[in-house]
This record gives sequence, structure tokens and C-alpha cells, in this order.
Amino acid sequence: MESDDKKILILGAGGRLGTALLRSFRFHTSYDLVAVTHRQPSELPELEGLKVYQAELTERSVVKNLCIEELPDVIINTVALSDVDYCETHREQAWKTNVRVVEYLLQMCRLYDIALVHYSTDYVFDGEAGPYSEEDQPHPINYYGRTKLASENLCRTSPERTLILRTNVLYGHTRKPTFVHWVLDRLSRHQPFSVVADQYGNPTLIDDLAYATVQLVIQQATGLYHVGGTEWLSRYAFARMIAEVFGYDPDLVQPTSTAALNQKARRPLKAGLRTTRIEREFHINLTHPRQGLEVMKRQMEKQRTE
Ligand SMILES: NC(=O)c1ccc[n+]([C@@H]2O[C@H](COP(=O)([O-])OP(=O)(O)OC[C@H]3O[C@@H](n4cnc5c(N)ncnc54)[C@H](OP(=O)(O)O)[C@@H]3O)[C@@H](O)[C@H]2O)c1
Repeated sequence: MESDDKKILILGAGGRLGTALLRSFRFHTSYDLVAVTHRQPSELPELEGLKVYQAELTERSVVKNLCIEELPDVIINTVALSDVDYCETHREQAWKTNVRVVEYLLQMCRLYDIALVHYSTDYVFDGEAGPYSEEDQPHPINYYGRTKLASENLCRTSPERTLILRTNVLYGHTRKPTFVHWVLDRLSRHQPFSVVADQYGNPTLIDDLAYATVQLVIQQATGLYHVGGTEWLSRYAFARMIAEVFGYDPDLVQPTSTAALNQKARRPLKAGLRTTRIEREFHINLTHPRQGLEVMKRQMEKQRTE
């Protein structure tokens, strides 16, 4: 276990990744953790002695006061509006949350010598030729992707110590639902349903991303890294795998096309992330989605029996 008196501020602590980060930092380090949530602090996992703030982070003064009050060594920012269709139609709110918050954080990082960890997405790419490496040229095709690329650029052009972790299709045992929860809900109705067969990615076990973050923070990494699972597959193939692992009939999952869904935001089709850099430089082992789903199933069963 890593032990020094580093203080880590986790923003978005009530979200999918934020909750997993709290657990992972608590398990692997003895860092002093401070959680910042948007809504109900009571929705956070029970972590004894955890200091929790409830804050609206699109207010510059709130970000400033929080940083001055806590003076952390590292800020981990999971705050985002990540609903791609919502971002397309609520552009001002999306920009404020996904870009302005990062701008305010970087200002504080500069003033108080704080390192920043920020998350981004494969949706910064157009999906013509994925999976993508860190060297590939971003070209977002929807507003969510544009906001995330803008936030990356702020980090990249800032003199502060910043680490950007791009990820895709997060799944795991979380309170806030993921694609896997949606598929499980549909499977439980025992009626056929459609899943897109032309959107590709490499689904990422949230625990893997949380663990990778802990390791990179311990080693004070900076720069850009991709984190994703070991298998590049369509949402349709992933949904069939979910059915197999959770004991449902995979034929309940029917293929459809993205065009047939008529979604508000365009989707990059051949998306996903190559992860060679983080595997080579930090010896991070990433999980095959079938194995990740088995982990998730075990965690869900454990919670049911507690
Ligand atoms: N989920 C994915 O599949 C995925 C894929 C690629 C990249 N990412 C990136 O990974 C990061 C984490 O994603 P996630 O899935 O964990 O997101 P999430 O579950 O939606 O968590 C985001 C958190 O930010 C909080 N938040 C939103 N607006 C806020 C505001 N104005 N002030 C304070 N807090 C605010 C939310 O609180 P409320 O819910 O209470 O508003 C939520 O707890 C994001 O940067 C996202 O872009 C995610």
C-alpha cells in the first residue's frame, strides 16, 4: 500500500467512475481522500471518515473556495455531462460542465501547484478508422466530443502537471447504470430487443480504469494515455456476451444499425482505443470483457446476499 500524506480531491464522486475511484484509492493507498459530489452525499459508498462536499462546480467561486479550503496535491476530475444526445441539445450546459470546469480547475492548479487528472473519450475521434492510438488525430463529430476535445486541449496547453486518461464504454457494478445495466434490464423482460451492430469499441471495466488511475497517480504520470478493455467488438456482440455470462438467451439480442435509431447526436462507428502505451509503460493489465462481466456478476451477487 502506498503511504504518504498526499491529499486527493475526487470530483464527481457520486458518478460511475468517481465511486470506483474512492474505493480504489482507499484500498490501494493511505492518501487523504476528499470527495466532492453534485447532489446527495448520502448516495456515496460508506467510507468511514471520508470528508464530503456537495458543490456546483460550474461556479468559478465554488471551485476556488474548495481548492483554497483543501489545498490538495492532486485533483481528479470525473465531472462531466456524458449523455451524448443530451449534450447535442443542451450545448451551453455541456460546455460549462465539460470545458469551463476544467478551465477553472487549471487556474487553481497553477496558483497552488496542484496536479490534475482528467478523463476523456474515444468520441474525440470520428470513428472512421478505430481503434485509435494516442498519436491519432482527433476529429469529433458530435458536440459531446467537441467539448471533451476542448477540455483535453486546455490540459495539454497548460503548464500544470496534467494527466489525461481517455476511455470508452465504461461498465461495472455501479449505482448509476451503464450499457450493461440497460442490456440486463432488457434481457430480464425475455422479449427480443435491438442493439446496434455497427458501433465498435473496447468496453472498459470501471475497476480497471480506477486501478490504472491509482497507479499513475502514485507514479506522478503526466500526458495522455488510453485505457480500455482487451477486446474490440460491436455493441451487438457485447450485448450477446452479456446474455451468455448472465445466463440469458443471446438470441434475444437482435442486430440493428445506428442509422435506424435516428439519434440526436452522430456516433463515431469504428471507435475504441488502443492501449499499448499504458500497458508498455506502466505494466497495467487490462481485462477481457467476458472476464469483466464475470467480475461484475460476482459483485452484484455479493451485494444481493449482504
Ligand atoms: N461512461 C462512459 O462510458 C464514458 C466513456 C468515455 C469517457 N467517459 C468519461 O469518463 C468520465 C467519468 O464518466 P462517468 O460515466 O463516471 O460520468 P457520470 O457517472 O455521469 O459522473 C459524472 C459526475 O459529475 C457530476 N456532475 C455533473 N455536473 C456537475 C456539476 N455542474 N457540478 C458538480 N458535479 C457535476 C455528476 O453528478 P450528478 O449526476 O449528480 O449531476 C456525476 O456524479 C467523464 O469525463 C466522461 O466524459 C465516460
